[in-house]
Amino acid sequence: MFQKLDTQNSDQTRVPQRSPFRYAGGKTWLIPKIRQWLRHQGGTDKEMIEPFAGSGIVSLTAVCENLVDRATMVEKDEGVAAVWQIILNGGAVWLADAIMRFQLTPETAKRAIDRADESLESLAFATIIKNRVNRGGILADGASFIKNGENGKGITSRWYPATLKKRILTIDQIKHKIHFIQGDAFEVCEKNACRNNVVYFIDPPYIKSGQRLYRYSDIDHKALFDLANRLQGDFLMTYDNVTEAQALASRCKFETKLIAMKNTHHARKTELIIGKDLTWL
Ligand SMILES: C[S@@+](CC[C@H](N)C(=O)[O-])C[C@H]1O[C@@H](n2cnc3c(N)ncnc32)[C@H](O)[C@@H]1O
Repeated sequence: MFQKLDTQNSDQTRVPQRSPFRYAGGKTWLIPKIRQWLRHQGGTDKEMIEPFAGSGIVSLTAVCENLVDRATMVEKDEGVAAVWQIILNGGAVWLADAIMRFQLTPETAKRAIDRADESLESLAFATIIKNRVNRGGILADGASFIKNGENGKGITSRWYPATLKKRILTIDQIKHKIHFIQGDAFEVCEKNACRNNVVYFIDPPYIKSGQRLYRYSDIDHKALFDLANRLQGDFLMTYDNVTEAQALASRCKFETKLIAMKNTHHARKTELIIGKDLTWL
C-alpha cells in the first residue's frame, strides 16, 4: 500500500542551512524532495504558502533557489513570529548586531528571556536565545536549558553568533520576496483556497509529538485534511506515520508515501508524505 522512500540516498544534494532557528520537527531533511516537488510544478508567478512556518526553511529555500517567485509564511507562536517580523521588516541588522554583542552565560540568557515582554525586539531576541539554549531548541512553555551540551560546553554548545548573523543578513537580502503573517494557518489557507497559482507546504504539529514541542499544538487534524481537499493549488503535507493520519488521508483520497529520515538523535523513523498526486516522488 505505501511505497517507502529513503532520504539518505543520492538525491541528497547539498542543503544549505538558511534559517536562524534550530527547529524541533524542522524539515531541512526533506528539502531534496521539496525541490523535486516544486520543479515538477508548471505555471508562472508561483507563490508558496507555508501555513505552519516554524523555522521557515522550506520557504527560505524555495525563494533563495528561485523555485517559487515569492512566499507567504504563517506562524502562530508569538516568539517565533517576532523573530520573523523583526528580520523581514527592517530589523535584521539590529538583530544580527545584538546577537554578536551578546555574552552568553546562564545568567545573561535568563535575563534576556525574562525581558521578553518589553517589546517586539526583546521578544525576538529572547526567542533566539531560548532556541539556542533550550534542550533540542524546544520553544514550548516549560522547556529546560541544555545541561552538558556538545563536548561539555553546556549552554553555549549551540551558540554560533557569526553563523546566525550571516543567515539573518542573507534573509535580509531576499526579504522583499517573503510576506510573513502572524496568525492562524487555517484562516490563511481558507482565504487563498480559490487561487491556483499557489502551492502549500503544510507541516502541522504532529499528532503524537506536537504537544511536547510547540506552544500551539492543538490542531483539528480532520478539519485540516478537509481544508487541504478544498485547495485549488497543489499541496504537500507531512505527518507522523500514525493510523489516524493514514485514515484521514485515505478518507480524502489523497496519495501517501512513507519516507525514511533520521531524527536529531540519529534514530531512524518513517514519516508520511501526503499530496493530491505524488507520481513525481
Ligand atoms: C511541525 S512545526 C513546523 C516546522 C517547519 N516546517 C520547519 O521546517 O521548521 C509546526 C508549527 O506550526 C505552528 N502552529 C501550530 N498551530 C498553528 C496554527 N493554527 N497556525 C499557524 N501555525 C501554527 C507551531 O508553532 C509550529 O511552529
